[in-house]
Amino acid sequence: MDPQTGLPVVGVVGAGQLARMMHQAAIGLGQSLRILAETPASSAGLVAAEVRHGPADDLAVLRDFAKGCQVVTFDHEQVPAEHLAVLAAEGVPLYPSPQALVFAQDKQAMRARLGAEGYPVPRWASVGSHDEALAFLAEVPQAGVVLKAARGGYDGRGVWFLDDADHLAETVDQLLAQGVPLIAEERVPLTRELAAVVARSPFGQVAAWPVVETVQQDGMCREVLAPAPGLADDRALAAQELAIRIARDLEVVGVLAVELFETPEALVVNELAMRPHNSAHWTIDGSRTSQFEQHLRAILDYPLGETAPLAPAVAMANVVGGSEPGSLDERLHHLFAADPGVKVHLYGKEPRPGRKLGHVTVLGEEIQAVRERARAAAETLQGGV
Ligand SMILES: Nc1ncnc2c1ncn2[C@@H]1O[C@H](COP(=O)(O)OP(=O)(O)O)[C@@H](O)[C@H]1O
Ligand SMILES: [Mg+2]
Repeated sequence: MDPQTGLPVVGVVGAGQLARMMHQAAIGLGQSLRILAETPASSAGLVAAEVRHGPADDLAVLRDFAKGCQVVTFDHEQVPAEHLAVLAAEGVPLYPSPQALVFAQDKQAMRARLGAEGYPVPRWASVGSHDEALAFLAEVPQAGVVLKAARGGYDGRGVWFLDDADHLAETVDQLLAQGVPLIAEERVPLTRELAAVVARSPFGQVAAWPVVETVQQDGMCREVLAPAPGLADDRALAAQELAIRIARDLEVVGVLAVELFETPEALVVNELAMRPHNSAHWTIDGSRTSQFEQHLRAILDYPLGETAPLAPAVAMANVVGGSEPGSLDERLHHLFAADPGVKVHLYGKEPRPGRKLGHVTVLGEEIQAVRERARAAAETLQGGV
């Protein structure tokens, strides 16, 4: 416990925008987080009082970092499972636990486990050679193949859509030569993507936010609409129940985001994240309890907060680095003048093309109207790209 406040010390491995926003929630709860940052100029390192520096794949660094923390949690999945197993065996309280986290770290382990338990997943196969990839392509000739790095991918880096055999074989050879573990999936004929985000505490309490629609561009989430427009009540409930069942089955503690594909007939699980997730950034402004507060409450086994939305329609848009020169400060002036109702969250990152720099949230009565405002706000901040 922190000697001054008598409140828990939470360690966060990783110092990106998720750790930064978690810290913002921690302030309200009387906590201050201890952050493990890889680089000097990190998003969370700019704002947290206790920042340690070191690589998250170094066991000695992790061990030292965890000393004195009531619980250690994560901003990203890139912590070696074998190190986490050692820390857990030494009694370090890790949430989510390494046994759960592996299903967010490794798409192959996730597909195998969820498939074995009867959850709806796309047809898939592990790929250890280009012959295996071609055999899988032959099984799904109409659908086409999505090749994925089993570990280490994010924002669509690590996902390749490949329909023709030559291109597939060539890509597989290149990636295997680089040591990238691969799986192949059928390309799901999805009508849209949804996310069901829930939280679970060690006590076993669960709480679910409304199911949202997520809009991806080049594999990266760009917009989130809450609740998912036009989603049938029974399907929304089914998605929440699915996420809660997964949280219980895998004994997830903290926030669990279940990315889903919607097809005319069904819901299919895409992937799992066991931490605050882009699809629930809208909860900071748009729900009674934000995902960042809820994650902290869950991992510390406090009772969970209400998840009710604060408006009938909430839209979030990511601010992504473009190529336009000019001053962000100036663009903020314009945005604040143009739409004083927009809530802006910037992550303190140096702009680079394709990098998530922040997000904006708009609350209102009608989803198309708030979506337009959020999109326009993000475009203003991106410099009109
Ligand atoms: N099997 C699939 N069928 C159709 N689209 C897919 C499939 N797998 C992934 N995608 C698309 O690629 C995006 C990124 O894939 P995902 O597995 O979620 O990787 P990441 O870890 O980068 O988020 C998804 O949000 C979806 O738009
Ligand atoms: Mg994804």
